[in-house]
Amino acid sequence: MASSSSPSSVVLSTGVQMPVLGLGTYKLWGPEEVYWAVDAALAAGYRAFDSAAVYRNEADLGRALKELLPKYGLTREDVFITSKLGPKDHGGKAMEGALHSLSQLDLGYIDLYLIHWPGTQGLAVDDKRNPEFHPRLCQTELRSVCDEYGVCFQAYSSLGKGELVTDPLVMEIAKNNERTPAQVLLRWAVQQGVPVLPKSSNPDRIKENARLFDFTLNKTDMNRLSALDCGQKYCWDPSEVV
Ligand SMILES: NC(=O)c1ccc[n+]([C@@H]2O[C@H](COP(=O)([O-])OP(=O)(O)OC[C@H]3O[C@@H](n4cnc5c(N)ncnc54)[C@H](OP(=O)(O)O)[C@@H]3O)[C@@H](O)[C@H]2O)c1
Repeated sequence: MASSSSPSSVVLSTGVQMPVLGLGTYKLWGPEEVYWAVDAALAAGYRAFDSAAVYRNEADLGRALKELLPKYGLTREDVFITSKLGPKDHGGKAMEGALHSLSQLDLGYIDLYLIHWPGTQGLAVDDKRNPEFHPRLCQTELRSVCDEYGVCFQAYSSLGKGELVTDPLVMEIAKNNERTPAQVLLRWAVQQGVPVLPKSSNPDRIKENARLFDFTLNKTDMNRLSALDCGQKYCWDPSEVV
């Protein structure tokens, strides 16, 4: 099997290094689920965690990391934490929102703080302003603008919220490469230099989703996957979150 030449981190425009693989935490509910997911993720080699004020699990994530980092001989500096400003805190409340996330996580600092999404809540799932990235939504134009301006383009919903793992082409390519459909979907992004944030509460899947750096998809498979592009979105409807 061919080995991977994809780097395990990207350098942001600030010069900071961000791991290419992070654990998505949207819909990880409650201290126990977060704890076991973080434990499985650290064991599998994840060194980045994607959180947000609207996920309402920052405190659980921070607590789990504080407890678990020593178990793996790691310190705060070894992990990369992302959080995000929710739309309700845009404008004058931005500092308050950032400080609230900082205090919920209680990890000293946040490595990357994003505007969760611009504008207001209530956009439909297929609204143009709800971007994401997977073979059915290749985002060619947006990616070239990001390249032009030195902006790191990161994927979310790479598994189509779980739906894409049953796509027949993805399943066929997975079988031919002796990999799982999730690994193929994630590898397709990573091989293009796009960081991924697969979410799972299942320790076996968390481990499975981290095995992306020891194989390569050939050009034909990459092109066949990219040809699935049809503008389809799976992102949550923000109106349901806050
Ligand atoms: N910046 C933003 O606006 C934004 C928006 C959306 C998401 N995100 C981030 O991106 C992360 C990922 O996106 P997402 O949560 O929408 O969806 P996703 O990662 O595409 O899919 C998650 C779903 O796939 C299932 N799954 C995970 N691994 C699997 C595997 N190996 N085989 C089969 N099914 C698998 C999970 O179920 P189990 O948990 O049962 O395994 C879950 O239902 C989020 O958690 C969040 O951190 C950011």
